[in-house]
Amino acid sequence: MPGLRAGHRHRSVDAATLPGGKGVNVARALKALGQPVIATGFAGGSAGSRIVEALTEESVLNDFVRIDDESRTNTAVLDPTSGQSTEINERGPVVSEAEYQQFLEKLRYLGRGAKLCVLAGSLPLGVPVDAYATMIADMKRMGVETIVDTEGEPLMHAAKAVPDAVTPNLVEAEGLVGYEFTEDEDAANAVGEIVQMGPLEAVVTMAEGCVAKLLNDGEPLLVKATVPTQDVRSAIGSGDAFLAGYVASRYAGGEALECIRQAVACGAESTRHFGAGILDPAGVHELAAVVSVRALSVSAAV
Ligand SMILES: Nc1ncnc2c1ncn2[C@@H]1O[C@H](COP(=O)(O)OP(=O)(O)OP(=O)(O)O)[C@@H](O)[C@H]1O
Ligand SMILES: [Mg+2]
Repeated sequence: MPGLRAGHRHRSVDAATLPGGKGVNVARALKALGQPVIATGFAGGSAGSRIVEALTEESVLNDFVRIDDESRTNTAVLDPTSGQSTEINERGPVVSEAEYQQFLEKLRYLGRGAKLCVLAGSLPLGVPVDAYATMIADMKRMGVETIVDTEGEPLMHAAKAVPDAVTPNLVEAEGLVGYEFTEDEDAANAVGEIVQMGPLEAVVTMAEGCVAKLLNDGEPLLVKATVPTQDVRSAIGSGDAFLAGYVASRYAGGEALECIRQAVACGAESTRHFGAGILDPAGVHELAAVVSVRALSVSAAV
C-alpha cells in the first residue's frame, strides 16, 4: 500500500494471505531448500483450520495441536514508496494447560524422528514463560539438537537450558545482555556473553549479515558475515529464512563457517520476495558466493 499514513483511510493495491509465525516460516523456507521438515504448534478455530489447509496445500508437512481458541491473524502493511513495513500483531489465543501438555507430548513424539528442533516465536498466552526450557530439556534427553529464536523472558529461560544455538536479531540480543550496542565490537562481545549464559552457539543477526560465536570442531570461533546491500522488497521473515539456511546447512553436515554463509545468503535472498519464508534456491546459491565470512580476532571475544 503506497503512502501509508496514520489516521487516514487507505486502499491496498495488492494483498496476500498465507500461514505464518516464525516456526511456519522456517518450515516453508526449509522445504524450499529441499530439507525434510514438520511444522508443529497450536492451531485453533477457523483461522487454525485455514493455516493447516494452506500449509498442506504448500506441501509443508504439519502436525498441530488443535486448540479451542482462535489462531491469530497478523497484518503487515508494506509501503513500496518508503520501503517501510508496519506490522499489527494480534494478542492471539489463550492456550489451556491441557493443550500445552498435549503439545509437549506431541513434540516428544515428533522428536523421535528428528535430528534437530527449531523452537521459534513468541509464546502464546497460557503457556509458561519457561516452556522453551522444558522443550530443550526434553529434546536433549532424546539426542535432538535445539536452536532457539525468540526474545525477552522466554529467551532468557531458554538460554539457561543450554540449547545448541540461539539466533536473536540485534534488538533481541540487546535485550538479552541488557545494554544497547553502540560500538562496532559490542555485538562481538555480546555473542560471547550470550554463550556464557548457556547456549553452545550464539548468532546475532542484523541487516548487513551477522556476528556469531560458533563451535568449529569443538573450538570456539568468532565470526562476522556480511552481504552486499540488497534491493529489498520485504525484510519481514528474513530472520526466519536466515535460520532455515543455518539449519539446512547444519543438517547437511556443513562446517560452521559454511552454515553461516548459507544462513546469510538465505536471509538476504528472502528479502527479494513479499511472503515470509519464501526463498529461491538459485538466488541463494548466487548470493552465497558474494557473502563475506571472516574470523574476528580472539581479543574481541569475551
Ligand atoms: N536489508 C537487508 N539486506 C540484505 N539482507 C538482509 C536485509 N535485512 C535482513 N537481511 C538478511 O536477513 C538476515 C536476518 O535479518 P534480521 O536480523 O533483520 O532478521 P529479523 O529481525 O530476525 O527478521 P524477522 O524477525 O522479521 O524474521 C540478515 O542476517 C541478512 O542476511
Ligand atoms: Mg527474527
